Amino acid sequence: MAKPKSSPKHVAVIMDGNGRWAEMRGRPRLVGHHAGARRVQEIVKACPDVGVEYLTIFAFSTENWKRTQREVSGLMRLFRKYILKEAKALLQAGVRVRFIGDRIKLDEKLVRMMDDLELLTADNTKLHLTVALNYGGRDEVTRAVQRLAFDVSQNKLKYTDVDAEVLGKYLDTRLLPDPDLVIRTSGEARISNFLLWQSAYSEYEFIDTLWPDFTSEEFKAVVGRFGTRERRFGAVKA
Ligand code: IPE
Ligand code: IPE
Ligand code: MG
Repeated sequence: MAKPKSSPKHVAVIMDGNGRWAEMRGRPRLVGHHAGARRVQEIVKACPDVGVEYLTIFAFSTENWKRTQREVSGLMRLFRKYILKEAKALLQAGVRVRFIGDRIKLDEKLVRMMDDLELLTADNTKLHLTVALNYGGRDEVTRAVQRLAFDVSQNKLKYTDVDAEVLGKYLDTRLLPDPDLVIRTSGEARISNFLLWQSAYSEYEFIDTLWPDFTSEEFKAVVGRFGTRERRFGAVKA
């Protein structure tokens, strides 16, 4: 497929439906998460073909700790396995990897692997892949406000200088542009605490396909549709 006329520079994805995909097959939910991880590879590869420079994926939310211990620890194991297995391929493909979310609750070994992968790929520029892990929009804004308030208390910042741009610099996403397009798979039409601040003017696509069935062809088609949307950002069409 040719590059769409107007590509979204930053696409964010809520990868949903792994559990249902597995349950429909009478398999444990973790089987669905493994199938979902394989899809990530495919979508990452597809991004440069369609002009997407930033891809942000929701891997684990601050609310996902409410799941069974078995599922949570299986997911954490999967994240470690994914980093170990894919680090070299990501490096060679020119992908710069970043993680957003609160690392404090994650196990030390995983955090070390995340840090190492960020460092390893720090010079890459072909695709900026951001993985949201233990991420929640409210949690992110709360942590940002805490740091901001601390800086005010230390006289590093005047409270009257705080505006949206300043607050944005305290967010985990400070180095990323806002997402142009947010895709959620699995038919759920909600944002589940994903990029609340950053998606103020994003376009949304809610797709029925379950994440493990979401092919690069379908991804490219969704990205292609973006070019037909008219974004007004609150203004009247010229
Ligand atoms: C999304 O799939 C992946 C994570 C939340 C880690 P789900 O596990 O939420 O799948 P469903 O929604 O139960 O089908
Ligand atoms: C959002 O999906 C989180 C991720 C995809 C990682 P959930 O499945 O956790 O969201 P809800 O519970 O349906 O809102
Ligand atoms: Mg879900």
